[in-house]
Amino acid sequence: MKRRGGEPIAGKGLFVTFEGGEGSGKSTQVELLRTARSSRSPVVVREPGGTPLAEGIRRLLLDPGLRPNPTAEAMLMEAARADLVATVLVPALAAGRIVLCDRYTDSTLAYQGAGRGLDRGDLEAWNRAATAGLVPDVTLLFDLDPVVGLDRKGAEGRLNRFDAESIEFHRRVRACYLELAAAEPERFVVLDAARPAEALEVEVWRAVGARRPAAR
Ligand code: TYD
Repeated sequence: MKRRGGEPIAGKGLFVTFEGGEGSGKSTQVELLRTARSSRSPVVVREPGGTPLAEGIRRLLLDPGLRPNPTAEAMLMEAARADLVATVLVPALAAGRIVLCDRYTDSTLAYQGAGRGLDRGDLEAWNRAATAGLVPDVTLLFDLDPVVGLDRKGAEGRLNRFDAESIEFHRRVRACYLELAAAEPERFVVLDAARPAEALEVEVWRAVGARRPAAR
């Protein structure tokens, strides 16, 4: 577990985040890891969400009847994140747990930054404030053409308020993720999410297993 620009937090946990566009299959992989037979069960959360307060904020953020202004949307994401980090993630990591988080700070840079056009520097500062600098040990990026991802999600009837954005919005989100991954190759593992779930599962295991702390 790491803090950007600061001392590592005491403890031997592993913080893994899952990122990607809509319909990329990342949540399926989180679920596969959660249910994998292992001596150490992971803590599994999704963003926005993961605490009673953050789940309440999630309902507001995904309410199709609400159209928050982009800054309000970003700040609600950060408020949910601040509560999750302080009350769930830091204690779990300090106790040596493996934490699997479905979306985290990179989602804000991709969706509210590249997607909605908010200032990148502002978002980075808000991310730091919400997380107290807690950065993932590894980020798995499920990269997929948004046309394919949205088709998949639509076929499953799971479209949300963000999915209804233009294809250009989703293309900007994808490009931003790839740019973030290129800038931090030691943190990111980019996976070709067009591949079948079984093939991705093998790669996810490889990436997480390589960084897994020794069982204590
Ligand atoms: P969800 O239905 O969980 O989508 P997915 O299965 O693709 O993760 O909805 C979460 C939505 O919230 C998703 O469309 C992306 C969006 N989001 C942001 O825009 N910014 C953020 O910082 C986070 C965490 C999520």
